[in-house]
Amino acid sequence: MSVLHFDRVSKSYGKGWIALSDVSFAIEDGEFAFLVGSSGAGKSTLLSLVIMEQRPDYGLVEVAGFDSNSIKHEQIPVLRRKLGIVFQDFRLLPDMTAAENIAFALKVTGQPRKFIKRRTFELLAKMGLSHKAKSFPHELSGGEKQRIAIARALANSPLLLLADEPTGNLDPRATDELMELLLEINSQGTSILMATHNTDLIDRVPMRVLELENGVLVGDRARGAE
Ligand SMILES: Nc1ncnc2c1ncn2[C@@H]1O[C@H](COP(=O)(O)OP(=O)(O)OP(=O)(O)O)[C@@H](O)[C@H]1O
Ligand SMILES: [Mg+2]
Repeated sequence: MSVLHFDRVSKSYGKGWIALSDVSFAIEDGEFAFLVGSSGAGKSTLLSLVIMEQRPDYGLVEVAGFDSNSIKHEQIPVLRRKLGIVFQDFRLLPDMTAAENIAFALKVTGQPRKFIKRRTFELLAKMGLSHKAKSFPHELSGGEKQRIAIARALANSPLLLLADEPTGNLDPRATDELMELLLEINSQGTSILMATHNTDLIDRVPMRVLELENGVLVGDRARGAE
């Protein structure tokens, strides 16, 4: 079964700019794939179509049992609860502390209070940020904000984790720790699609690589198969 399927998807901005052109691929249940391509290649656009923040101009996006042609507006939050999303610009809620940002993701899915407390504590510890639980986003460094965004995305044990440059603000050691964590989460069954510029990382980690160039999927290879 595929958790995600793009069938001949195109997306333009305004009249002129073609951000994605005739893109097709599938991510199988439990798979881990990198999404690479230079700045402007269409990575964030592709992820925004997965979460149905935008719909394709042509083609079909199928994700977690929903599709872009037939999903109703009110079903989009139901879809998003099955996904974990780490945005390139984090999108933490500015008036909530680090712990409250994570807890909020659990609250909206109706988890019991005790569980929320325990899970939030556990995720903060996993990210090495227990000491920043009460800090607000503007009091955190770029890398700390990024780790809080990742903790929030993982809170509900999503079917599919989408991460847009999750290592962009991390130093090499924190990057390695995050990759270990993502591989552990993946081994527990969560599929992962991770957009990254970090070529060193994709050379080291033996996972599938989808490559975009000017909105066209120019490569889709298993590591070692190029
Ligand atoms: N809201 C928008 N309106 C108009 N053009 C946009 C919009 N968002 C993105 N684009 C354009 O679409 C193309 C793809 O952008 P996208 O953000 O998907 O690239 P990206 O691969 O994520 O790049 P980066 O690595 O810099 O994050 C770019 O040329 C960008 O300028
Ligand atoms: Mg981007």
